[in-house]
Amino acid sequence: MGRPLPGASASEIGIDRGDREPIQQQIARQLRALVLSGRLKPQTRLCSTRALAEELGVARATVVDAYEQLASEGYLETRSGSGTRVAAELPESLLTAPARERPETAPPMRQAREPARPFRPGLVDWDHFPHEEWGRLLGRYWRNPPVALLEHNDPFGCLPLREAIASHLHEWRGIGCEAGQVIVTAGGLDAFDLIGRAVLEPGDKVWFEEPGYSTARRIFSMGGVHAVPIAVDDEGLSVAQGRTRAAAARAAFVTPARQYPTGVTMPLARRLELLDWAAAAGAIVIEDDYDSEYRYVGRPLPALMSLDERARVIYTGTFSKVFSPIVRLGYTVVPKSLVARFRAARLSHGAPPSLVAQPALAEFMRQGAFAIHIRRMRRIYAARRRALIEALSPGDGRLFHIDASPAGLVLLLRLPKGRSDAEAVELLARHGIAVQPLSGHYAGRGRRQGLLLSFAGFSEADLRKAARKMIEVLS
Ligand SMILES: Cc1ncc(COP(=O)(O)O)c(C=O)c1O
Repeated sequence: MGRPLPGASASEIGIDRGDREPIQQQIARQLRALVLSGRLKPQTRLCSTRALAEELGVARATVVDAYEQLASEGYLETRSGSGTRVAAELPESLLTAPARERPETAPPMRQAREPARPFRPGLVDWDHFPHEEWGRLLGRYWRNPPVALLEHNDPFGCLPLREAIASHLHEWRGIGCEAGQVIVTAGGLDAFDLIGRAVLEPGDKVWFEEPGYSTARRIFSMGGVHAVPIAVDDEGLSVAQGRTRAAAARAAFVTPARQYPTGVTMPLARRLELLDWAAAAGAIVIEDDYDSEYRYVGRPLPALMSLDERARVIYTGTFSKVFSPIVRLGYTVVPKSLVARFRAARLSHGAPPSLVAQPALAEFMRQGAFAIHIRRMRRIYAARRRALIEALSPGDGRLFHIDASPAGLVLLLRLPKGRSDAEAVELLARHGIAVQPLSGHYAGRGRRQGLLLSFAGFSEADLRKAARKMIEVLS
């Protein structure tokens, strides 16, 4: 049923609880349509989120999310003290586009809607993605590519994006790098491939976390390096064991913000120990910082690279987790002393990724929409993680132990002694539940057993349902 929206004459918002479209999206869609139709004029003040939430009978956070989404798309402006208003200047393309091209007439983009099985890895939320703004920016650069893009095909990628990444890393990860040190890649995996080509030789020994990200280990190994598994304890990669097993290694590959897959954060002392080893051994530390923006409690520790005064760290990041896995963009940041080597490696092998998505993403970051998106998703993912942990708690201690690091998009359940994770994975798959075995992330023996649940792409309701099913199946 429709409800009047105070502050907006003759406007109405209605929600349908039976609809598959999430309520926040329903609110955002209708508000957007009111703005586009001119019924909500520029600078019209909207009623408070609290009032609208009360009136619609929904959680206030739902309305806050809808307002924030529209603010990130440029439809609304929020000023502290004076509430939320319709933007004084609406995004240009919305006002000039012919009616049939207006975004609200296009069907919203949807992730493949065959129901994905929970907890399939790699999915992120799709319903809260700022589709309109992103589509608008992509459209703009497709139709009117800046001449500079066509003329200067820099193998390191498009300069505005490299600048935006440098500034993001400064703000979010404490890294003081220049755009000249940033190389845009087709995701983290492409960055690993490039690093291998630029600084490693066949036969070089490289420390890898055990358990660790097996795809990275595979990519580096394809270049002929010799992977040395080094145990992960409750402070991350054991530098002491690394020194014993291969003190003269050429590099170490680590995930210090949130060890993949155990979720352990490497504390400061261990970070310094690792950097000291690298400086003494003339080795390189490859820091894979794949999802550190999603930390739900406290402040994240700055990146390892931010502590590095001796130019030992090569940093990699990806837009797959914080933005979308299908944009296929990531980056690596290299010490100034290595820039020329990386340029030579990129020129001799490989090229920068899509020149349409790069400037669009640069603009998206520059105008602040990226930071808003991360903050909003952090709240949503935190709620999903909480809902999942709560729903799993009847099995905690009995069927598994919930190893809940307050970060990331994956939850680890450790299995009791004697229980095989491979068997549990198979059993759950027969009941429509897709989990990953922890043991699959080990290269050597002594594999611990556990289940990895990737929760980001599923609603709280779906997560609760899947958790109940898991408990039933494992019991
Ligand atoms: C631990 C870790 N590092 C890096 C990546 C990089 O992924 P992409 O190539 O999608 O950027 C991933 C992706 O799943 C990951 O899980």
